[in-house]
Amino acid sequence: MNIDPFIQNAAKPVGSDGEAILRRMNQSHADLAAWGFSHVHPLPGADTLDVGCGGGMNLVTLLRLCPAGTATGIDYSATSVRVSEQTNATAIAEGRCRILQADVSHLPFPDDSFDLVTAFETLYFWPVPVESLAEVKRVLRPGGSILICHEADGSRPGDELWPQKIPGMRVYSAEQLRELLTQAGYTGIATHTGPRQGWVVATAQA
Ligand SMILES: C[S@@+](CC[C@H](N)C(=O)[O-])C[C@H]1O[C@@H](n2cnc3c(N)ncnc32)[C@H](O)[C@@H]1O
Repeated sequence: MNIDPFIQNAAKPVGSDGEAILRRMNQSHADLAAWGFSHVHPLPGADTLDVGCGGGMNLVTLLRLCPAGTATGIDYSATSVRVSEQTNATAIAEGRCRILQADVSHLPFPDDSFDLVTAFETLYFWPVPVESLAEVKRVLRPGGSILICHEADGSRPGDELWPQKIPGMRVYSAEQLRELLTQAGYTGIATHTGPRQGWVVATAQA
């Protein structure tokens, strides 16, 4: 299979193609994100973190769900950081939102910093998922929650082709997400499959 360079931007957006794909994902992931967010109920004053924040639309939702809280985004792509900053410019100016360039495997935050961490459409690309989930757990407050949400769980025709289209990408079933979270030390793990084929959510507590 020929590798389409445009599609590689899903894993790490770069430049103008990366910016285009991020703006597209801000729209095309809306239904998936709404379904994912229906599985968590953060308090209004919660401090939240979105890892692999992409174009920044999930930060917009976190700021709306937690009007007295804060929303932080991290992404290892400079292009994602820039687009997320544009998407959340008002909240950043108000001091309620910040976006940092960082890899999920080394988060630039002290222990016990957040009440909720969300990860939409990103864990597929993490080369060391258990270690990275443990790193997320480190920055969660005790009892804080993680939400993982993917549109591909391997059950859709063609899902098996993703690792060929995007080298390094891995698609996880609900049971495999549960196993990763267990290995990373989380408790209270729950998984749900979606109203559309392939959609999967996993939630757990630190
Ligand atoms: C498919 S996009 C999803 C963006 C957004 N979460 C959404 O749902 O629209 C994946 C994002 O995860 C980021 N990402 C992938 N691996 C990462 C890692 N190890 N650390 C930080 N960000 C990562 C990519 O740069 C990209 O912005």
